[in-house]
Amino acid sequence: MQIDRLWLTDFRSYHRLELSLTTGLTAICGPNGVGKTNLLEALGMLATLKSFRGAPVDSLVRQGAESAVVRAEGTRDDREVLIELELAKGKTRAQVNRQRLRRTRDLLGAVRVTVFGPDDLALIKDGPALRRTYLDEILVALDPAADRVVTDLDRILRQRNALLRQSHGRLDDAAALTLDVWDAKLTSAGEELTRRREALVESLLPLITDAYAMLAGAPTPLSARYERSWSGPGLADALVAGRDDDVRRGVTLLGPHRDELRLGLGGLTTRTEASQGEQRTLALALRLSGHRLVTDRLGEAPLLLLDDVLSELDPRRAGALLTNLPTGQSIITSASELPPAAVPDQVLALTADGELVGAG
Ligand SMILES: Nc1ncnc2c1ncn2[C@@H]1O[C@H](COP(=O)(O)OP(=O)(O)OP(=O)(O)O)[C@@H](O)[C@H]1O
Ligand SMILES: [Mg+2]
Repeated sequence: MQIDRLWLTDFRSYHRLELSLTTGLTAICGPNGVGKTNLLEALGMLATLKSFRGAPVDSLVRQGAESAVVRAEGTRDDREVLIELELAKGKTRAQVNRQRLRRTRDLLGAVRVTVFGPDDLALIKDGPALRRTYLDEILVALDPAADRVVTDLDRILRQRNALLRQSHGRLDDAAALTLDVWDAKLTSAGEELTRRREALVESLLPLITDAYAMLAGAPTPLSARYERSWSGPGLADALVAGRDDDVRRGVTLLGPHRDELRLGLGGLTTRTEASQGEQRTLALALRLSGHRLVTDRLGEAPLLLLDDVLSELDPRRAGALLTNLPTGQSIITSASELPPAAVPDQVLALTADGELVGAG
């Protein structure tokens, strides 16, 4: 879907804002702290109802206001689509074409976004949790039904872990029977998610390699391997074999929540051996390849939100990114002047007091 207009009321630093967006590249410029990322965050909410900065709803509502509204008008297949979100303490409401959504999951698929921001360096530097989330987000963008598998698995693990904790290292017969039930559920959801993630990594690897070569200006051998936390043909057997350990530690030690996406760059371990710029380039390549896969499979490009991406790349890499932007709608923010390679279709300038001045 293409977003044509956006209205914000009491969202973050914005009391009221109205804005038109073009089809191609929009650049949002302005000094630090004027609300550039806030704007992208609002657009991101339209796809996931969550802040990509991981902020709770409370901090999205402008200080002193009761609730915030994010409203967007767009077009899909020549039809107008209106999305309205109301964010308030404890409740978030979403409407598409003035129809209230019963579950927030029903919003998934209406708008899709790909976000790259400064925090994405952690995708390479930090532990495996963010890399698993990276994969799961692409799975959900490709197929909203994957969201059910991800949330089911979360719930099953919470309950299984609660049971393990309560057993204080010793399982009585009743608890052992209950654990059997959770094992069966964990096996079914866990194996499905693992299969989906493994197939995804296989599809992504050539695209990550392409995106990295485009940014770095030279082909670089890359590896991306999905590593299961359990061995053997099935999760059920692994859980039986690992049960004593689980009971002793009071936590589920095997399953997709412990798996790893292992990344390598030119034969080195990216997490510990790549330079900061290389790590940032790889993180960007991960996001761009997910974007490309979703575009290819669904025949429609997600909205690409690039927050502060230019400041961390050398001029050659920044230029490569800007001249090879994927087709579709992209929005880029920058606190400094855009490099010559940037030819935005629209520039929006935010002044020091958060006023939107430019358009064109
Ligand atoms: N709930 C809120 N109510 C009012 N103001 C808020 C709220 N949340 C954030 N802000 C303000 O929004 C501003 C930050 O906006 P944002 O992160 O979008 O800046 P930015 O233009 O991206 O800056 P930078 O270039 O440093 O990344 C801060 O000044 C902050 O005080
Ligand atoms: Mg910012």
